[in-house]
Amino acid sequence: MDFLEIKGGKKLDGEIDISGAKNAALPLLACTILFENELNITNLPKVADILTFLKLLENLGSKYELKDTTLKINSSHITKTVAKYDIVRKMRASILTLGPLLARFGYCEVSLPGGCAIGQRPIDLHLKALEMMGATIEIKQGYVIATAKDGLKGTTVIFDKITVTGSENIIMAAALAKGSTKIINVAKEPEVVQLCEVLRECGVEIDGIGSNELHIKGTNQKLLNSKDIKVIPDRIEAGTYLCAGAITNSKITLNRVNHVHLVSVILKLQEMGFDFDISEDSITIKPASKMVHTNIATTEYPGFPTDMQAQFMALCTQVQGTSVIEERLFENRFMHVSELQRMGADIKLNKNIATVKGECILNGADVMATDLRASSALVLAALVANGTTNVHRIYHLDRGYENLEGKLQKLGADIKRVSS
Ligand code: UD1
Repeated sequence: MDFLEIKGGKKLDGEIDISGAKNAALPLLACTILFENELNITNLPKVADILTFLKLLENLGSKYELKDTTLKINSSHITKTVAKYDIVRKMRASILTLGPLLARFGYCEVSLPGGCAIGQRPIDLHLKALEMMGATIEIKQGYVIATAKDGLKGTTVIFDKITVTGSENIIMAAALAKGSTKIINVAKEPEVVQLCEVLRECGVEIDGIGSNELHIKGTNQKLLNSKDIKVIPDRIEAGTYLCAGAITNSKITLNRVNHVHLVSVILKLQEMGFDFDISEDSITIKPASKMVHTNIATTEYPGFPTDMQAQFMALCTQVQGTSVIEERLFENRFMHVSELQRMGADIKLNKNIATVKGECILNGADVMATDLRASSALVLAALVANGTTNVHRIYHLDRGYENLEGKLQKLGADIKRVSS
């Protein structure tokens, strides 16, 4: 299995381009189930999760051609409505097929995604909302079997807890439902906003985009006609590279990025001593004269993202003072802690709160990636560790970071992929 070999201690310098957002692209791919036409989706990130999702769509009957970052896709041919375990088990986001398949066909079977490294991650809120829209849901042999014989019906849906993919599923379902759906306590992440904007471009009436309440007028199962779509930049990839600049206290520039989506991350880095030059689609992080500790609590957008928690933890090991990091979204999202400790980090865990001592000398070691963002935290730590770090199980990284080692090499890091 491939691993990354990283020799620490190099300053970074230069510019890189940020790829399209994986978490925006996945719901947009699912949304093609609602389209009657062929379209191009551009700025797709070249990451494993996108290929997995395309395989799932192909399995259902979609036809596509992928050239570099441009996808030509036609999902009007879909005839099958079963999302099989084989594919769903590889990627939880496959659950995004549930809303659109049910809305279009009135019946579907989607394998339950099961547990994952960062916690339980149930889908009860997705199912409850679909039931409110008139679906009958059964769980049989590991599959969600959803039926809405005469189509889904508009209603008022209230999410007890904010859920990103749950919101996306219900937004897509509401777009083809009969009548209007009001969705209260809906997620406001930029990826959710892009999905809504695409649907609005298709002629679906949606009010409240970007707020916590949406009103969507459904088309009563009439399929939509979509223009070409360009995926928004990946704010988590961008945030990860900002942390790479920060942890090595270097000046680097990210291009093709949307700084508005990164406000909480940039503010946190400013609080820690870093300066920025920001233009419309680029961000330059500049070295800090003094790197200082911070406190972080993860929360929904526009608050500090849970997907940046692990990377900031690596950074906090290098700043002055002690930082406190509270993980509020996923109960088990501290799998990187023990690996960082193996490199010499001084981190104490108490339930969902990590106390991270700064100015720590990290030493290279063999470490194991446990989930997508945890893996990038290990790479960041390796950039400043003494000696060589080998990061194993990098298939986690390949799920969500396009050409991570290539981009870091371009910035001057001593990193290479080794096949063993
Ligand atoms: C999405 C992102 C993921 C990110 C997360 C939170 C995608 C493909 N993935 O995941 O990168 O870390 O948002 O920003 O976009 N919950 C329930 N019941 C449900 C659904 C969720 O209790 O039915 C809980 C979860 O356990 C968690 C919280 O709600 O505690 C938020 O999860 P959710 O927003 O649904 O995460 P995902 O959409 O899976």
